[in-house]
Amino acid sequence: MEKITINTSCCRSEILVGEKWETAFGMLPEKGVVIITDDNVNRLYGNKFQKIPVFSIKPGEASKKLEVIESLAAKLLEEGIDRSGFILAAGGGVVCDVAGFLASIYMRGIRCGYISSTLLSQVDASTGGKNGVNLGDTKNMLGTIRQPEFVICDPEMLQTLPGQEYLSGLAELIKTAIIGDKELFDHIERSSDQILSRNSGLLTSLVAKSVRFKGLVVSEDEFETGLRRILNFGHTYGHAIEMHKGVKHGFAVASGMELATEFSFEKGLINYEEKSRIIRLLNRFELIEELDISYDQLEKLVLHDKKKTGSEIHFVFTNGIGKGIVEKVPVIDVLDFYKRFRAKN
Ligand code: GLY
Repeated sequence: MEKITINTSCCRSEILVGEKWETAFGMLPEKGVVIITDDNVNRLYGNKFQKIPVFSIKPGEASKKLEVIESLAAKLLEEGIDRSGFILAAGGGVVCDVAGFLASIYMRGIRCGYISSTLLSQVDASTGGKNGVNLGDTKNMLGTIRQPEFVICDPEMLQTLPGQEYLSGLAELIKTAIIGDKELFDHIERSSDQILSRNSGLLTSLVAKSVRFKGLVVSEDEFETGLRRILNFGHTYGHAIEMHKGVKHGFAVASGMELATEFSFEKGLINYEEKSRIIRLLNRFELIEELDISYDQLEKLVLHDKKKTGSEIHFVFTNGIGKGIVEKVPVIDVLDFYKRFRAKN
């Protein structure tokens, strides 16, 4: 087991990688705890949730909306949860987003911790305190940044994930490697078969590497005023693709990373060989989606992106495998690159 600590100006968040998920029960206050989960996780693990009240949401992105937050808040109130209460989230990115947001606003904030059950949430979403819901077709428009007290990443939980859900998480792992850890990239490349067979020891080590990197970034820039922006590699195009096509987050981000890598190559930031390695790795896991989003649809979605200020956007390029860089570029350049790329492919 590896413990990674994130220290921010106000809080300390401990990420336990390779720990059994049931350990969470020893980390809770004696009273006032509720579990927020989704129907899939509840079906698989609910019989071990002890006697804690459970509120289960529908799995999937459609649950990331204000109505769900409001209805859960009403249930917490009915349950008698006060300011000393504790929300234990058990699930993937959507559950952590919803439960984390609720914990940060219910009675102006109560304590929370996560059992992170998907690869996507273990390598990325559950670390760093971002939470939130969508506003119509605009992703993560309403939310806060607030650190959970702990996150448990149990590799055994990854064994029950549906194939597409598992692959979706690999995209965020590859993202970390491209922007910050060349050794991790090499490791993923040489271990692709073992990754696909979900070797638990290997997964613990890969998740720990990703969390360690993210922990350093978040400890330095919790509120994304600088360094943390690099974690958005692939996400400008990716969020638009996700909202347009309704595909899983990781597949959309992978397609966004293909575009961001090709854009980086066009700008002379990455050489042909490294660019090809990135695209090959994304293809190895069959992560890249067909790009059927039109220029106008992309424009509408990118114009709503949180990373945009005025007519410019903080866009993340790769400057070689293991190095992400952020540049403020005109939104029109991002849209025009997409047009050129689609015309050629
Ligand atoms: N998923 C990107 C971040 O947490 O900043």
